[in-house]
Amino acid sequence: MTTDQYLTDNKDRFIEELFELLRIPSISANPAYKQDVLDCADAVARSLKAAGAENVEVMRTPGYPVVYGERIIDPALPTVLVYGHYDVQPPDPVDLWTSPPFQPVVRKTDIHPEGAIFARGACDDKGQMFMHVKALEMMVQNNSQPLNLKYIIEGEEEVGSDHLDDFLADNRDLLKADLVLVSDTGLIANDIPSITTGLRGMSYVEVKVTGPNRDLHSGLYGGAAPNPINILCEMIASLKDDQQRITVPGFYDKVVELSVEEREAMAEAPFSEEHYKASIGIGATEGEHGYTAPERMSIRPTLDVNGVWGGYMDAGAKTVIASEACAKISMRLVPDQDHEEITALFKSHFESIAPKSVKVDVTIMHGAYPAVTPTDHPGYRAASAAMEQTFGRKPVPFRGGGSIPIVTSFERVLGLKTVLMGFGLDSDAIHSPDEHYGIFNYFKGIETIPLFHENFARLHGA
Ligand code: BES
Ligand code: MN
Ligand code: MN
Repeated sequence: MTTDQYLTDNKDRFIEELFELLRIPSISANPAYKQDVLDCADAVARSLKAAGAENVEVMRTPGYPVVYGERIIDPALPTVLVYGHYDVQPPDPVDLWTSPPFQPVVRKTDIHPEGAIFARGACDDKGQMFMHVKALEMMVQNNSQPLNLKYIIEGEEEVGSDHLDDFLADNRDLLKADLVLVSDTGLIANDIPSITTGLRGMSYVEVKVTGPNRDLHSGLYGGAAPNPINILCEMIASLKDDQQRITVPGFYDKVVELSVEEREAMAEAPFSEEHYKASIGIGATEGEHGYTAPERMSIRPTLDVNGVWGGYMDAGAKTVIASEACAKISMRLVPDQDHEEITALFKSHFESIAPKSVKVDVTIMHGAYPAVTPTDHPGYRAASAAMEQTFGRKPVPFRGGGSIPIVTSFERVLGLKTVLMGFGLDSDAIHSPDEHYGIFNYFKGIETIPLFHENFARLHGA
């Protein structure tokens, strides 16, 4: 049966089966949802088995389990290892959702006239991961699987994949493959197919500034007592200079500058500043001087405060000098920055700029290495050819701004390159209220994946 026919015949079922996964609130960050995360692992395992995967197993780790499955058709053929994640971000703030985050529905949007599935995880990453499960089903039914396939679907991506390095190291033989394929990134637009060729790394810290030993009356003490909130704000403000460059000494030492040619090639990827501003409702973009907005979001490192708190935050006015103030700060890193080094540089700098009047604590939350994937690799060429077949247009390579910590682990621990063939859009609101995933994108992915495997089987070792 043709792919077209198979997808038409099974369209409603493919959507309903994804809905079943989306109804499980597998929020890895919140321990209250532990049983749901575990239930979701079981549901993924059942779906892989139903699609035709063999040796399916929910494999334990010290954290949430990894679901494994495989379909080996001939040991002489190449093997692709598919990676995805079944955990999701917390849905908060829940009241900003148009429909409840774990009750998936299809609604039309301007960008998705064919409809989009609204639910937490619809795009990141249940919808994208499930495309691989349905593509497997289709290849099994059509007896057209062109190479060996292995699957690892993890449950801790959104909290930093802490146990996956050990999992990879402990299961080297089981995971033997020629390439890793991941659908957890995006396209520039539905009519501009593209392939992500780089991800940023991450250093994430929490800082606390402690002043007086108790909250103080701001009239009795104000003026002479150090105010930790004021001080924290000044310290944070000093982390960027008037060119919006990060002031942590040594921060840029290992940043690889792109050549003029590379920057010109990057500028080929379409980007509309006007559309960008309108899409997030801002008056102007900002960032490091000397770089374009797309560059600032991909090939340059950043420092962002993700949360800040302290003092009186309830209704009305309270005159108080708080004893402490805190912030969560993330730095996105680019090649060849090392997150452990950057975290150490940040920590000593932040401690050094604190005035004598307060005490500063820097707590390390998590880190990830930046990654670049080569465009001259058979894996990239296989993805490019497959997308050209299904989109009718050759995809453009582009560097993404997000992070997937595990991508460098595949290289470091297993010696494997990764291809990031994702089908989401930036406007799909991942991690935000009203996350959604286009029906067009879901089925385009299911259609493209088997072609990727065919192309890779042909190109590998050729
Ligand atoms: N799938 C995303 C990363 C992503 C999305 C990359 C779109 C490129 C395009 C992933 O699930 C994610 O959210 N990663 C986190 C990192 C993690 C350590 C919490 C991120 O980028 O913030
Ligand atoms: Mn993801
Ligand atoms: Mn995510």
